[in-house]
Amino acid sequence: MKYIDTNIIEINSINPDEESVLKGAELIRKGKLVAFPTETVYGLGANGLDVKAIANIFTAKGRPQDNPLILHVYSIDQVEELAIDISKEARELMKEFWPGPLTLLFKKSTKVPNIITAGLDTVAIRMPDHPIALKLIEMSQVPIAAPSANTSGRPSPTMASHVEEDLSGKIDMIIDGGTTGVGLESTVLDITGKQPIILRPGGITLEDLRNIVPTVVEDQGIIHEDIVPRSPGQKYKHYAPKAKLILFTGEVDNMVKAISKKAYIYISQGRNVGIMATDETIGRYKEGISISMGSRKDSRTIAHNLFNTIRILDSKGVDIILCEGMERSGIGTAIMNRLKKASSGNIKKV
Ligand code: TXA
Ligand code: MG
Repeated sequence: MKYIDTNIIEINSINPDEESVLKGAELIRKGKLVAFPTETVYGLGANGLDVKAIANIFTAKGRPQDNPLILHVYSIDQVEELAIDISKEARELMKEFWPGPLTLLFKKSTKVPNIITAGLDTVAIRMPDHPIALKLIEMSQVPIAAPSANTSGRPSPTMASHVEEDLSGKIDMIIDGGTTGVGLESTVLDITGKQPIILRPGGITLEDLRNIVPTVVEDQGIIHEDIVPRSPGQKYKHYAPKAKLILFTGEVDNMVKAISKKAYIYISQGRNVGIMATDETIGRYKEGISISMGSRKDSRTIAHNLFNTIRILDSKGVDIILCEGMERSGIGTAIMNRLKKASSGNIKKV
């Protein structure tokens, strides 16, 4: 792959400087790749109507061609052009949760290139809740195709430095707007069938969605190990640290004891051990490099810190990561979905 000079520009997230955003928008219009912050994770953006530019996203990330992309919009008018048969429920969900971390599947219009949807007849669309992202889309005057701005398989980027680590030399610009808020990718909801179904859990929870559309269910494939998920993206190896990650589940006290014991054994074998702990438990680990992801009383903070914690432990050169599991409710569902994938099914119930 040809080396590209990656221009990194800093833009204030709260009140973005329009001239700076325009530089990014001009690149998008020319078919270039621009990474930008959203409220979930950083996205790798390209003109969503330009087939060549979209193909370059797949190349830069090393992403499998059969994994479709999300189109990012700044107005509902854009949705009207990209989707057909927009249901009443879809309109209610957009009204309630947009801009925000909810991606909706629609029947695609002929305007959407097949490379976006990997040949499917549905298109994923979301309106991000981030001033830079919204300005960038508006100024580009096109929907922006954007997967998470990481190398395929790696944890999604929550800071510009993560994007730089993975994609420097492969993309044209990184807009540094600081750390992202939610820290996990958006909830993906398929509302094209009879029963609305969550294909990927995220910042908007099952409970949130049911308040508006009571019939929403979760794809069993995102919960159970032995059921194949429906969303193309869910079948791939994901969020993987360089180290081997073992996920522990069960009572907090049992997890701490089991992790401490495992840490002791691995360290006595000369291995470098990292521990993903919580505020409540970190003081109990005597060995290994332990990092707290946040308090168990505040799962949103744990979600916010999750991917960065994995990247920090990787940068410290650990070969094993022992990670505490969370309760599977609210955003805990999304946290556990990402951790299960990061562990490649290496899960110990204690
Ligand atoms: O928060 C987010 O959603 C971030 C930011 C940048 O917006 N984007 C993101 O994109 O996470 P990506 O490409 O990493 O994940 C998109 C997910 C994949 O799991 C993909 O398979 C699924 O959405 N997806 C996209 N289009 C789909 C479709 N038509 N049917 C089923 N799943 C689809
Ligand atoms: Mg991704």
